[in-house]
Amino acid sequence: MLELIKFNNKGDRRGSLTVLEENKEVPFSIKRVYYLYETGTGVSRGFHAHKTLEQIAICVAGSCEIILDDGYNRKTHYLKSPDVGLYIGNFVWREMHKFSQDCVLLVLASDKYNEDDYIRDYECFIRELQNGKK
Ligand code: TYD
Repeated sequence: MLELIKFNNKGDRRGSLTVLEENKEVPFSIKRVYYLYETGTGVSRGFHAHKTLEQIAICVAGSCEIILDDGYNRKTHYLKSPDVGLYIGNFVWREMHKFSQDCVLLVLASDKYNEDDYIRDYECFIRELQNGKK
C-alpha cells in the first residue's frame, strides 16, 4: 500500500523537467489538482482517509513529512524531491507534518472534491476497515 514513485527527469544542462501523464506515470485519471503552500510553522494537516479517492502527493519545493497508516502499518515518508511522488490509495489514513517554510505540496487526485468521501475520525476509519468496507 505504501508506494514511492520515482518520476522521470528529462532535464538537461538548462535544468530539470519532470512530466506526469494520467494513466502513465500517474496510475489513475487526474480529475483534480491542488497544492498546499505557505503552511504555518508547526502546522499539521490531513488526519483523514478517503473511501475511494486515490492521490499522488509531490513535494515540488521544500520538504514535508507524510505519515501513511493502513490500519495495520504506519510509515513515515520524508518528501523533498520534485521527482518523487507518494501514492496514497483509498482507505489509507494520512497525516502531514514538518512543512518547511518554502514547501509546496502538489496533490493529484482521481476525483473531484467530495466531502462524503472523507473519513475524518480515526476510530471510524478502523471500524470501517474491520467491517470490510474496503
Ligand atoms: P482538507 O481536506 O481538510 O485539508 P487537509 O486534509 O489538507 O488538512 O481541506 C481544507 C478545506 O479546503 C476544507 O474546507 C475543504 C476545502 N477543500 C476543497 O474545497 N476542495 C478540495 O479539493 C480540497 C482538498 C479541500
